Amino acid sequence: MKTRWSLPKKLFQGPAYEGLGGPLSVEADRDKVDLRLQVYRMFPQKVVLDLFAGKGYLAWLYAKHGCEKIVCVEKNKKYFEVLKRNMAEFDGRIVLVNMDNLEWLEEKLNPDEQITYVDFDAFGVPTPQIKKFFMRYPIRHGLIVSITDGLIYNFRRMSNVDLRKHYLQDFYLDVEAGKPKSIQNLGEYCIQIQKQFMDILCMRYNAQAFPLYFKVNSRHAAVYSSYLILPKLVGVTDFKRYVGLRVVKHGTVLSTSRSFKGFGEA
Ligand SMILES: C[S@@+](CC[C@H](N)C(=O)[O-])C[C@H]1O[C@@H](n2cnc3c(N)ncnc32)[C@H](O)[C@@H]1O
Repeated sequence: MKTRWSLPKKLFQGPAYEGLGGPLSVEADRDKVDLRLQVYRMFPQKVVLDLFAGKGYLAWLYAKHGCEKIVCVEKNKKYFEVLKRNMAEFDGRIVLVNMDNLEWLEEKLNPDEQITYVDFDAFGVPTPQIKKFFMRYPIRHGLIVSITDGLIYNFRRMSNVDLRKHYLQDFYLDVEAGKPKSIQNLGEYCIQIQKQFMDILCMRYNAQAFPLYFKVNSRHAAVYSSYLILPKLVGVTDFKRYVGLRVVKHGTVLSTSRSFKGFGEA
């Protein structure tokens, strides 16, 4: 695919990214950039929040392609120095923060600022940050969420990430469920797993999520996706309660919205 987006060569000189298995070969994957930028440009962008800003490949493109303000959070000091250099030309509409993004979301996120685009470009699993964002930011208007999610990598290998806890949320009960052994068993379910994660999260925080694309990267390790997030309409039935499923919050059964009888029972 021929991309319409490119970065100036003089930028982004700096330390190489390291993954769990050593240096990462592709820093700014073409699909990642191209799909994100297509979505980005569909909507007018006011405030962009880049929570895994790294050296700023994506942030630079977002700033270049029009937004009023961009907030970049990066915890690694070496990458942060490169980020500062690369984003210097946008002085006046950038905020650069050298901090852990979970701490930033907890302490610095302003729920009244009109954020229109949030990027979660993680190397691993960004679900803690996505959850924290929804917990701290009430959805009162439409916004885009873009995600790089290493869920495939973690399903494929022995991983110390507790995937049931990360993705199954309300259905995370303290029982042995067994992990799929190979990605072949998972295949297309990856999009369903992530969609369910977003749906349930949105249901919890009075929002709704619409997937715009879902793409497995060339190394078959992570997926790229974007969602349009909207407030839930007042009066819309919470479909999970409506069908009578158990409502579980953080591992504790709170209530059953309808008592479930066996088929044919009175
Ligand atoms: C895939 S790279 C981001 C690349 C970046 N979006 C770009 O386009 O250049 C992920 C980055 O997230 C940073 N990171 C990982 N965990 C973080 C955390 N908890 N808080 C802030 N930054 C974090 C890493 O240091 C790394 O630079």
